[in-house]
Amino acid sequence: MFHFFRDTQYALTPLTALFMKKVFRYVLGGLAAIVLLIAAAALFIQWRGIPTYDKPTLQQTVELTPNRVVRGKKLASMLCAGCHFNAETQRLSGKHMKDAPAEFGEIHAPNITQDARHGIAAYTDGELIYLLRTGVKRNGQYAPPYMAKLPHMSDEDLQSIVAFLRSDDPWVQPTPIASTPSQPSFLTKFLAHVAFKPLPMPAHVVPQPDTTDLVAFGRYLTTNLDCWTCHSGDFTKMDMLNPEQSFHYLAGGNKMPDNDGRIMNTLNLTPDKETGIGNWTEEQFIKAVKYGLKDGEPALRYPMVPYLELTDYEAKAIFAYLKTVPPVKNRIQRTAFD
Ligand code: HEC
Ligand code: HEC
Repeated sequence: MFHFFRDTQYALTPLTALFMKKVFRYVLGGLAAIVLLIAAAALFIQWRGIPTYDKPTLQQTVELTPNRVVRGKKLASMLCAGCHFNAETQRLSGKHMKDAPAEFGEIHAPNITQDARHGIAAYTDGELIYLLRTGVKRNGQYAPPYMAKLPHMSDEDLQSIVAFLRSDDPWVQPTPIASTPSQPSFLTKFLAHVAFKPLPMPAHVVPQPDTTDLVAFGRYLTTNLDCWTCHSGDFTKMDMLNPEQSFHYLAGGNKMPDNDGRIMNTLNLTPDKETGIGNWTEEQFIKAVKYGLKDGEPALRYPMVPYLELTDYEAKAIFAYLKTVPPVKNRIQRTAFD
């Protein structure tokens, strides 16, 4: 291109040549400015890290009742333990999340025991609720998508989780182990500036589901136990506030590494007969979800962990709800390895 310009220069009148040179200089200058701007934006994002927002001001005190603590532990064992439970300490003292997609960076779930220095003793009940609803921590920093958010959970269930975190259960007793800070990648920082935003605080009370309405109860569990986030089509096309609007809702396809870095496909849970669970019986489903068995054979591998804490009635409700979801023909191969 440069040669072409120089060679043809002589064919042009001096005025046009001058003009062209000017244009060329402007174009070059413009390009340089754009490159500089991008570099500056990248530097800014790298320097600023994960963005911060207004600190939570929610004033709320959660009453600790025995029922709430039991309910809270059940929910936390299905929803929080996978990341925060440490097998060595047998407490929620945090761990390295080896199965977080490498693109996110090096992620460590922090210590959320009641330890004053290393745990979450400083959080108020209101700050915990605010974090679990919106994703904003007590220091105002946004917790990226690798930390759970619970926009649809009933107020009562959410308070149960907080009651459990405050309880005398062994899992949450003060454990003086410093959390290793996560090293979010540039991509995570970038997306936290342009794509991921804190979720709004619900404007109204989020009621308990009607447990006698099997389908409604199943929908509540499917949404709040995170079945849908793993089992939909694409992590980047999820609608956190309106799960059903997500791309390939419950039709499988999301990919996630297991603890050895092998990429696992999540499977189609819509009632399509060929590619989903349309031909499964309720009994097969309950056994698979609760015990990881299908027809007596191991059916589920990590990161699909059997939901031992679910009652048969709850698993049945999930099945009843899944039967009502629009079937999607989407053949997903189970990841093959032995
Ligand atoms: C997929 C993994 C994952 C799950 C599931 C998860 N967390 Fe977290 N959690 C994290 C990570 C990673 C962070 C650190 C986020 C950051 O660096 O901003 C975190 C941060 C937190 C914090 C803030 C700690 C601080 O020092 O500010 C609290 C409190 C917390 N989680 C509680 C919970 C509870 C309660 C649940 C269950 C309802 C839960 N988490 C589920 C990974 C997870
Ligand atoms: C952390 C991500 C994750 C979550 C959360 C999750 N699953 Fe899974 N699920 C998977 C993966 C991955 C597989 C495939 C496992 C394999 O290949 O062995 C799977 C497999 C299954 C299967 C077997 C399907 C088949 O065709 O063999 C069923 C049924 C299932 N999940 C139901 C559920 C239900 C119900 C929930 C919520 C209570 C849930 N899953 C939550 C990741 C997840």
